[in-house]
Amino acid sequence: MCGIIAGVNGSFMAHALIDGLRKLEYRGYDSAGIAVLGERIKVRRAVGPVDQLELLLRDRPADGSIGIAHTRWATHGKPSEINAHPHVHDGIAVVQNGIIENHQELRRELIAAGHSFLSETDTEVIPHLIVEELARSSDLVSAIRRAAARMRGRYSIAVLDKRDRDTIVTLHMGSSLVIGRGNNGAWVASDDVALTDRVTDIASIEEGDIAILKRSEIKILDKKGTVVDREWAPVEESQSTTASTEWPDHTRREIDEQPTAVATTLRNLANLDIPECLVNADRIQIVACGSSYYAGMLARRWFEELAHIRVDLEIASELSTRPMLDTDKTAAILISQSGETADTIAALDLLEANSVPTVAIVNVARSQLARRADYFWPTSAGREIGVAATKTFVSQFTAIAQLALRVARLKGEVSISRAVELQAELCRLPSSIRNIFGCEAQARDIASRIKTSESCLFLGRGADYASAAEGALKLKELSYIHAEAYPAGELKHGPIAVIADGLPVIACASRGPTLEKTLSNLAEVKARGAYTVLITERGELECDAADDVIRVPQASPFIAPILHVVAMQFLAYHTSSQLGLDVDKPRNLAKSVTVE
Ligand code: F6R
Repeated sequence: MCGIIAGVNGSFMAHALIDGLRKLEYRGYDSAGIAVLGERIKVRRAVGPVDQLELLLRDRPADGSIGIAHTRWATHGKPSEINAHPHVHDGIAVVQNGIIENHQELRRELIAAGHSFLSETDTEVIPHLIVEELARSSDLVSAIRRAAARMRGRYSIAVLDKRDRDTIVTLHMGSSLVIGRGNNGAWVASDDVALTDRVTDIASIEEGDIAILKRSEIKILDKKGTVVDREWAPVEESQSTTASTEWPDHTRREIDEQPTAVATTLRNLANLDIPECLVNADRIQIVACGSSYYAGMLARRWFEELAHIRVDLEIASELSTRPMLDTDKTAAILISQSGETADTIAALDLLEANSVPTVAIVNVARSQLARRADYFWPTSAGREIGVAATKTFVSQFTAIAQLALRVARLKGEVSISRAVELQAELCRLPSSIRNIFGCEAQARDIASRIKTSESCLFLGRGADYASAAEGALKLKELSYIHAEAYPAGELKHGPIAVIADGLPVIACASRGPTLEKTLSNLAEVKARGAYTVLITERGELECDAADDVIRVPQASPFIAPILHVVAMQFLAYHTSSQLGLDVDKPRNLAKSVTVE
């Protein structure tokens, strides 16, 4: 949520910053801006994607030897040029990722002290605070530290001072920052993807760290002000963030990459030690947000039915709203694609404070969650650029299934033959997913029927409800059609009132004890005029209740729900593209949600 890049390289800063912003655009894309320092600070800001900023720079060039840049996901104040970062006051320019929670109080104090503000943002208080602190001592680093002591929230900033043409100072207060060094100078960014083409080595800095970047030197001070070294690693081969011409967009490519994502995840987990805390646990607390939460819903079945461990599931932002009772013999699993989701990190803080051992299932190894949790159980989907989770979701499912199965085996709760059977099914998952690609044309046809609907319902029972929920989330994110998932049995307790002629209702129904009940529920909505779609496995099943049936490969009830999700990804994708929307960057969203 918001992307920062800043660097000190001696020349042609603007071009490098624009290039970095493009790679960070998935974090927010409602406006963008840069501040570069040559003879003086030049600021350029534009509403809309980075392309707009680049156009502006063609009309009004600006360059310098150092610079800071930002791509925004609005929190305080609508997307506008005036609210776009950087914010400048008296020669101090700042970009920020995160939220300054007490910004209103600070704004009032500063106004009382004679300051005036131009924007509605929380960020604008920062350069004002730094300038006020600089009046007490002219040392920028101490002024930033003192300004930070007055601010509350999780954030990170990069600061440029017009009096120093060789220094950028950056502060990490809970929103990730990576620093990079190489022949092209010193750099900092919210995510290493923005730096990999520019530097040779990368390090993540820790919460509370200040990094002082000069062209030929980077100094890191920890929260006590002690000079520290953080672990530097050579940059990994950069993964392209521009869509290949073979696919119309990143999302479509990432849907196609799912078989590989699953296979790589399985391979990378093969020799990893099982977190002991799970084997010893009487209860597992799963915590996540959005799609990752729905992956957690799928995980519940695996842990409860195979490992016989009770699972409680909580949306990360809700964890702190209830007392944490009975944490004895509890272990927590936190699921996150980015590993940077502020709500999930806040949940980690809480779990740590309650001495609950934590396992992070995360796709980004360098992320805070992966580094901070007691155990890291990686998904290996590769970088996901499309804002909506696709290949990372199936990889989360794969990692969870693998973890549950191995915990169940270690505890002796599942027979060898059953475990071998399920493992074989997991290993066949890449080919089963590839097989679903055959249903794309059908999903496209169904998309053409639902694309003009105002609303859409998704139904399922048990794990099928989890996949229905993910299907509904994909449709609403990508097409902006209001979509809700209900446990199929719950429909008659109220939601059935919304059924009207032509309302699309999509039911996920795996073979198993709940199949017939779900089909009855589908018949009930069809009888009231709904347009009904059934997603189920191939086989003999005839279903009068469905106007259309999407059939995925035969699978056990443990695996089938993830196959249903892939079919619904196609449905959402084609609905969005037929509506002419930006599939990769849906409105109002961002890939990495770093505010609570
Ligand atoms: C949905 C989606 C979001 C994320 C959620 C959590 O397509 O991408 O719902 O799943 O914001 O993000 P992570 O998994 O990075 O913690």
